[in-house]
Amino acid sequence: MLASSRLRGILLLAAPFFSLLDIARAEYVDPAELDACPGYKATDVKVTGPTLIAKLVLAGEPCNVFGNDTKTLDLAVTYETETRIHLKITDASSARYEVPESVLPRPSADPHVRLEAVQLEFKYTTSPFSFNISRARSGEVLFTTTSHPLIFEPQYLRLKTTLPAAANIYGLGEHTEPFRLDTSNTTRTLWARDAYGVPRGTNLYGSHPVYFEHRAGGTHAVLLLSSSGMDVKLRNNETATGATTLEYNVIGGVLDFYFLAGSETDPAEAARQYAQIAGLPAEVPYWSFGLHQCRYGYQNYIDVAGVIANYSAASIPLETMWTDIDYMYERRVFTMDPQYFPTARMREIIDHLHNHNQRYVLMTDPAVAYLPGQDYGTYDRGTKLDLWLKAANGSSSLGVVWPGVTVYPDWFHPEVGQFWTGEFESFYDPKSGFDIDGAWIDMNEPASFCTDPCDDPFAQAAAQNLPPPRTSPPPNQDAAIFSQQTHAKRAAPSYAGEDLLHPPYSIDNAAGTLSSRTASADSVHANGLVEYDTHNLYGTMMSVATHDAMLARRPGQRTLVITRSTFVGAGHKVGKWLGDNLSSWGHYRTSIAGMLSMASLFQVPMVGSDICGFGDNTTETLCARWATLGAFYPFMRNHNSDISISQEFYRWPSVTLAARHALDIRYRLLDYFYTAFHRASVDGSPVLNPLWFKYPKDTSTYGIDLQFFFGDSILVSPVTDENATSVSIYLPKDQFYDFETFVPVDGKGEHVTLSNIDFTDIPLHIRGGAVLPLRAKSAMTTTELRAQDFQFVVAPGGDGTAAGMLYIDDGVSITQQKTTSAKMVYAKGKLSVSGSFDVDAKVASVLFLGVEKAPTTVSGPGYTQPTFSYDAERKVLSVETNARLDGGFEVTFS
Ligand code: GLC
Repeated sequence: MLASSRLRGILLLAAPFFSLLDIARAEYVDPAELDACPGYKATDVKVTGPTLIAKLVLAGEPCNVFGNDTKTLDLAVTYETETRIHLKITDASSARYEVPESVLPRPSADPHVRLEAVQLEFKYTTSPFSFNISRARSGEVLFTTTSHPLIFEPQYLRLKTTLPAAANIYGLGEHTEPFRLDTSNTTRTLWARDAYGVPRGTNLYGSHPVYFEHRAGGTHAVLLLSSSGMDVKLRNNETATGATTLEYNVIGGVLDFYFLAGSETDPAEAARQYAQIAGLPAEVPYWSFGLHQCRYGYQNYIDVAGVIANYSAASIPLETMWTDIDYMYERRVFTMDPQYFPTARMREIIDHLHNHNQRYVLMTDPAVAYLPGQDYGTYDRGTKLDLWLKAANGSSSLGVVWPGVTVYPDWFHPEVGQFWTGEFESFYDPKSGFDIDGAWIDMNEPASFCTDPCDDPFAQAAAQNLPPPRTSPPPNQDAAIFSQQTHAKRAAPSYAGEDLLHPPYSIDNAAGTLSSRTASADSVHANGLVEYDTHNLYGTMMSVATHDAMLARRPGQRTLVITRSTFVGAGHKVGKWLGDNLSSWGHYRTSIAGMLSMASLFQVPMVGSDICGFGDNTTETLCARWATLGAFYPFMRNHNSDISISQEFYRWPSVTLAARHALDIRYRLLDYFYTAFHRASVDGSPVLNPLWFKYPKDTSTYGIDLQFFFGDSILVSPVTDENATSVSIYLPKDQFYDFETFVPVDGKGEHVTLSNIDFTDIPLHIRGGAVLPLRAKSAMTTTELRAQDFQFVVAPGGDGTAAGMLYIDDGVSITQQKTTSAKMVYAKGKLSVSGSFDVDAKVASVLFLGVEKAPTTVSGPGYTQPTFSYDAERKVLSVETNARLDGGFEVTFS
């Protein structure tokens, strides 16, 4: 089909006439009144190849809802690839803010896009201008602005689509809503916020203005690439049909949409297409999938050493120890408190960890203590470079963070990368400094404890007693540590006339005004951009700078950076944790939806919640259950607030057992998951899957967010109620196997109740059709784990076949010298392993599940009479293979 027919106007309507609407500036505006605005008329339409451009001219008397309607707009629509339409609406006469390419490079368009093969179609109506995006094959309309005129004003952009009744909408995070958003009355506000307690219904730390919609006819995604503050409103009560509407209310920038066709059959395809914009996820070091222990409130180096020793004594594999801001002198970044965390002892701890194949991570906040003339190196060096974000009057924009009054690095400053890398290089120098293995960055919304108006940050800091004096006496610097260690071996827009502090449309920011508890919205960056527009980018820009600083310390090696605030593209460089949750069963439950949004939709797969909860006090049963659930977070970290009771996994016997048990499973599955992660880094396939990604036709799965797939094939179904020992889980119509017993379980597309689930257990099922490359035995560190043999588990699906992959590399290098990529295929009693093999490994045994009767002959690699055993009750055939994974091999039975 030719471009001109795809980009055609389908109707030429007479412009309806509406008189000037004098709508009061208020937070609530009747949707009908907005729909009565005149909208625009498309003129000068030109189609060149895959691109249509047009002028949009105001089609009637302006309605000036929250400012003056912009008279003329530019529209540009391009079929960028067969699966992606890029649609952009900008002010024709003056430059407006757009997310800078330096922060998020735009995907390139396919110069050879075949218009006859495009999967989405753009159609428009001339007057008032509206457009539809539909599936080219079926004609199904996916997005339509019909009946909802576009409103485009300097500080208010409104675009609205009608969707099917009870639409299945996911995304628009970060949030603690259900994974499938409630379309009856949800407002998703995107304005990065330090959100202690992660309250439902509010804006949180990350801003990801993308949604995925799933229908019987397929799954597609829509990204509004904007870092401006916005409310996205989902409603279904505006028409008699109950149709869902999704309305963008944006306070700046331009309308820059990407429509992704996704797929009619495979929901994960939408995630892969989204990765073409957000970037493929960064590969992280193998060790970063080990267990991390952290807390705010370790008082001194003895506390830190004690935790390391206690984990070892409890035989719970601790991979990485973390230390929060407690280590800092007066909470100043890039300092170590000489009395509480003396340099020599800290180095001893780090050396000890490294000698035992364990790791160390320290927290770094962006805000730098404002200490002019006080010999604080970081402040002085930044000041010399004139590096701080500026207030509207040209002085440094001051906030209040942990050390008291602070300045904020301006990530747009041309020398900020050099500065940040320099601070990392000197403080975290592997030889002369503190040799950290990963970085934890926080408070980068950016957060401030200063309430708007922050006219006197000094008074506000003093009133909050910041930085607080230490309450405990300093430790004896010579105290012996690790005595208990027993067996661990291992273009400038203009803002004239705009009110950046109190824009006419106020988004539903739970913190209050735009500047509340963050840098003032009128703060100016070195390139002239203002926080008003770029606020939501701050955390991601800091993430990139930190990633680069870590890379400079260890060139060629992957790094682990965990951030709190994220934007589109963050996952390309860093991972994220979900902020300050509480030790509650509710937050234990919502952690799953939060994690699924990041990992399955937003391409931030290295994600997890604070296990056992951050704020408030945990309980033994909650912490035990959370230890088992947390073993299936990609990023597994126990973290706690300074005023909560201690919650390391060794504190209670049941929690110790739960952690040991869950980590045993996690570690045995680690190469399976690492393979999934590697694949994600190559093509964007999600490492976690909601059930509907695997059963897109099964409507019962669409709302499930208390169960999920870890990788493609491990169904995780935690017990979710307080102190319960049973759980009702949904098993889609498919072949499953109990992970612990390997007994076949027939999924019937029904809920089943599992009972007597001990607090140390978590229900896990293997989805039939998989060959899982397990490590035969777990270990106390991932280094030790990598030396273990493999055990392949063949779990056939209903059709009797199974397949799997195993990827092995050195676990740390960005560019690998040697890798193994094995492909396992099973059918009719024969497992074939093929691929490329360049890493030493051995497959000690293969387990075939669901084998109906004892075989008479079994043959394996290199011999005809391998040892095997058959368990008739569990239907498991176990074959000792002892196969070196240095070439392909086969195992057969009959
Ligand atoms: C923030 C972080 C939390 C950390 C605390 C102290 O609240 O979200 O994880 O422990 O700051 O640094």
